[in-house]
Amino acid sequence: MSNQEIAEAMRNHHALMAQQLHTLAGHVVTQKEEWGTARNEVGMYLTDDILPHAAAEELTIYRVAAQVDSMKGLIDSMLFEHGVIREIREELMGASMWEEAVTFSTEAAKLFEIHAEKENRFIIAVLEPRSDVDLASVLGDMHHLLSR
Ligand SMILES: [Fe+2]
Ligand SMILES: [Fe+2]
Repeated sequence: MSNQEIAEAMRNHHALMAQQLHTLAGHVVTQKEEWGTARNEVGMYLTDDILPHAAAEELTIYRVAAQVDSMKGLIDSMLFEHGVIREIREELMGASMWEEAVTFSTEAAKLFEIHAEKENRFIIAVLEPRSDVDLASVLGDMHHLLSR
C-alpha cells in the first residue's frame, strides 16, 4: 500500500480511538451511581488499547520520525505526553470519588484527542510524502508489536 493509504488508515485509527475514549469518558460523567464500573471501562481501554498503541509508536514511527532533524524536539514532547497519559491513567484508577473519576477520564480523552491530532498533522503528514520513509513497514512493525 502507498504511504498515502497507510497515512489515511493511521488517521482513521486515531479518530476511532479518540471517539471511543470520549464515549467511555462520557459514561463516567452520566453514570454517577455506577461510576466505578464506568471508570474501570475507561481504565481498561487505556490499558488494553491506548497505552499499547503508544508503546508501539515509541518503538516504530517515533524512531523513524526522530531521524528527521527538524522533528527531534516534537518527538520528545510526544513521548512526554505518553508519560502524562500513563500518569492520568494511574490517577483515574486511584480515584475514590465520582468527581475525580470525571476529571481524570475527561482529561485523558481530551489529551488523547489533541495528542492524536498532533500525530496526524505533525508526524504522519510530514512522513507521508517522504520517499525515504515506508509507512507500510512502520505500520507492519506496529502491528507485530501489538500482536505479541
Ligand atoms: Fe502517541
Ligand atoms: Fe497514535
